[in-house]
Amino acid sequence: MTTYEHILVETPAAGVGLVRLNEPRTFNALTGPLMHELMSALEAFDADEAIGCMVLTGTPKVFAAGADIKEMAQATPVELMQKAFIARWEKLRTLRKPVIAAVSGYALGGGCELALACDMIVASETAVFGQPEINLGVIPGAGGTQRLARTVGKALAMEMCLNDRRLTAAEAERFGLVNRVAPVESYLDEAIALAAQIAARAPLAVRLAKEAVNMALETPLNAGLAYERNLFYALFATKDQKEGMAAFLEKRQPHWSGE
Ligand code: CAA
Repeated sequence: MTTYEHILVETPAAGVGLVRLNEPRTFNALTGPLMHELMSALEAFDADEAIGCMVLTGTPKVFAAGADIKEMAQATPVELMQKAFIARWEKLRTLRKPVIAAVSGYALGGGCELALACDMIVASETAVFGQPEINLGVIPGAGGTQRLARTVGKALAMEMCLNDRRLTAAEAERFGLVNRVAPVESYLDEAIALAAQIAARAPLAVRLAKEAVNMALETPLNAGLAYERNLFYALFATKDQKEGMAAFLEKRQPHWSGE
């Protein structure tokens, strides 16, 4: 397995790829090198047929405190454009397999945006979600304004981005930002267990379900429904559709082949 400097990579359960952000001294500030490693690790899991679902986490104290302020403090727009600063984060959107963020402690700025870019979020009771970029004289640059508005609605997104309103884990659950909240002792295990359940399902159906749900955020209803229907039809070309329906009719558990 590849060795990394800024992250830790494991397979804690069958079919589950786990990436831990591992720069606790800087509260997992999302430097260019760390993000490069993170995207490489996620892409490697995405390409690995033994992996069905990924979990992205930090430490119990901090998920991530955002983009590295030291790295960008003196930047010019030209440098940011030349480096395509933050653009590589978009790779997350191209992953075919689901990614669950397991968030404990601070998820601020780019940390909150990174969690929002994942497909689901399991939070610990200590999680804090916020977009404090306004305190630095800037705005979120990795999707915060767009994903928050789509997730928690305009009113709350405005307050978070314009006035550094932070959400506790309980609030984040109430506003639909996270799937569930668990004690700090068990949030990661819960995220891994959820990932293991998804990884044990028919892989192609999982990928297309992810694609279809994401499409709901991109298209008008008519186009989205047509898109979904075509993916539904396409799944009838898979062995797993035949197996899943045969198993139901024969009153037995299905055995997925991923074909
Ligand atoms: N970038 C660089 N370093 C950071 C950092 C960041 N985003 N967040 C924390 N650190 C570093 C601090 O500089 C400090 O390092 P030193 O010990 O070398 O001084 C160390 O981590 C610990 O931080 P604090 O001493 O501040 O610890 P704290 O417990 O008092 O506070 C915190 C923790 C609330 C997370 C606070 O550090 C903080 O507010 N961090 C910045 C959060 C932020 O503004 N994020 C947005 C960044 S911009 C962005 O993300 C743009 C985008 O959309 C992509």
